[in-house]
Amino acid sequence: MDINMAEQRVKELHDTLNKYSYEYYVMDQPSVPDSEYDRLLKELNEIEEKFPGLRTPDSPTQRVGGAVLDAFQKVRHDTPMLSLGNAFNEADLRDFDRRVEQLVGHSSYSYVCELKIDGLAVALKYKDGLFVQGATRGDGTTGEDITANLKTIHSIPLRLKKPLTMEVRGEAFMPKQSFIALNAIRDEKGEEPFANPRNAAAGSLRQLDPRIAASRNLDIFLYGIANPGPLGIEAHSEGLNLLDSLGFKTNKERRVCKTIDDVISYVKEQSDKRTTLPYEIDGIVIKVDSLDQQDELGFTAKSPRWATAFKFPAEEVVTKLTGITLSVGRTGVVTPTALLQPVRVAGTTVGRASLHNEDLIREKDIRIGDMVVVKKAGDIIPEVVSVLVDRRTGAEEEFHMPDHCPECESELVRLEEEVALRCINPQCPAQIREGMTHFVSRNAMNIEGLGEKVIAQLYREKLITDVADLYTLSKEELVKLERMGEKSADNLLAAIETSKQNSLERLLFGLGIRHVGAKAAKTLAMEFGTMDRLKETSAEELTAIHEIGGKMADAVVLYFDQPEVAELIGKLKASGVKMAYEGPIRTILAEGESPFAGKIVVLTGKLSQLTRTEAKDRIEALGGNVTGSVSKKTDLVVAGEEAGSKLEKAEKLGIDIWDEQRLMDELTK
Ligand code: IVH
Repeated sequence: MDINMAEQRVKELHDTLNKYSYEYYVMDQPSVPDSEYDRLLKELNEIEEKFPGLRTPDSPTQRVGGAVLDAFQKVRHDTPMLSLGNAFNEADLRDFDRRVEQLVGHSSYSYVCELKIDGLAVALKYKDGLFVQGATRGDGTTGEDITANLKTIHSIPLRLKKPLTMEVRGEAFMPKQSFIALNAIRDEKGEEPFANPRNAAAGSLRQLDPRIAASRNLDIFLYGIANPGPLGIEAHSEGLNLLDSLGFKTNKERRVCKTIDDVISYVKEQSDKRTTLPYEIDGIVIKVDSLDQQDELGFTAKSPRWATAFKFPAEEVVTKLTGITLSVGRTGVVTPTALLQPVRVAGTTVGRASLHNEDLIREKDIRIGDMVVVKKAGDIIPEVVSVLVDRRTGAEEEFHMPDHCPECESELVRLEEEVALRCINPQCPAQIREGMTHFVSRNAMNIEGLGEKVIAQLYREKLITDVADLYTLSKEELVKLERMGEKSADNLLAAIETSKQNSLERLLFGLGIRHVGAKAAKTLAMEFGTMDRLKETSAEELTAIHEIGGKMADAVVLYFDQPEVAELIGKLKASGVKMAYEGPIRTILAEGESPFAGKIVVLTGKLSQLTRTEAKDRIEALGGNVTGSVSKKTDLVVAGEEAGSKLEKAEKLGIDIWDEQRLMDELTK
């Protein structure tokens, strides 16, 4: 590929990737599978590696490109980032409206109501359409430059749809589901959990290594333009529409309200819907729509007179903590859980709340028998907020973590820098069961009908000792289990059978290799193509991959060094579990359209855009059969640079010969 072709292709890839990203992250309407995005991103990265001059700051590959920083630079805001006055009830809202009415001199006005997203305020600067700087609010006058971390948020466009120079403001946040998943992982790793999604978002954006922010699944809603005057718009609502048209993500729940009664109905409506949203909100922001009227109203020392924030009351209830139970996770972490007298909070009945670790129990001085305040963090996860010390009777008991594993009785250890206690016995039945439950879970092998309870039974009955045993279960064995009818047994066996065809990344994730999450598993599967290739890799080869750090590389190598692992993988393979990455292409090209279907293909010479294994896997995913030597049976030879005798032989036999570009074109058609 020459530089002109490369430049052209880079442009195409930018456009396509930006389009896919916009559809996925901003519109929430993906038009292609993730794997297609990943494949094009990889192609772009490879071209950029060959032609570094083509790597621009707005390239989709540059979302996680930033170096690890020593400290954040300070940023002075050109327009200060103000806070808002509060309203806590209907009367406060009517007072606000009266003040507005008096100040705009009884001419007509309307409001824009928006959700008050519970995250952290950020300012994004664009120069001629290019994202150049992102900062925190800080004290309102000076914040910190967190550009590299913000770039990892996919819904922030790196280039606008028009070449404008402007500053926009919005709220970066962590969706509830991501918060829950993150805390579950932190518990497993023995790390301190985040108290709520806002702290999790703030903690993620204050990391000096952008890879951490990148792994946190943050998102953003833009809610304003710092200095809208020069853009020729007259109302805040127009500004929000402009943000939409430039490619930003704005919140669609906003509404223009003509009267304070309409505002009050909106507040009520949203207050009822609050727990169903996928992100946390802590209130409603009400803003005068007309920009002229905003100017007229002006500011007090701290906040604009043209806006106010209605704050929702946090739903907290009081109940009795009747006991504390312990559970052992997949990695051996022992987690204490509070047993509560069942109580209604934010729409559901709560009977348990994780206490995470002993430090947290000490910090909050939680004792068995205490009356405690309970709320839902992230509107979902029950949490013990505090203890009502005044209500103690003297009968409460302090709780101490045991010295020994509640499951296998081996001694618990506290690893350096961890808050958690761990059982480090690899034979601990709880860990084995949890590991198996993880293996069959939705993001891993996705075997429906195999919950924690069935796994526990199978394990207790010694029908399975490791995950490979799942593949040799028989119907006779299954129907003997409690509550397992013929039909469920058949369904379960079918689900187990289907899981054999999963693409490699599911298996890799399911194996529970330390530090390898679902995303990393996907990267590994794509890069290596097969388990056999991955098994032989080195830490150097792994760290050369963009998204893979030293810790993960070491963990992967260490994992495959274990003889038990080799045995397990051998067993899985023998049962017919697929050990290869299912190229993304199969999903895009219908069968029969493939130029490789039924063909015998030989690869020779050096390939520059993909590895031999990748080429082989992708040709095979399209129905071709890749062999090593050229004969009369060969249908096609792909000849890379410096191809030698195989090419000569192919020429002599009159076999079809493609160069690498032709192969790439056919693979990406
Ligand atoms: S407008 C001058 N709109 O709430 C007006 N703020 O005290 C500036 N927030 O820290 C804010 N959602 O980060 C506005 N839709 C929204 C918001 C919002 C959340 C945050 C903002 C600020 C605080 C207001």
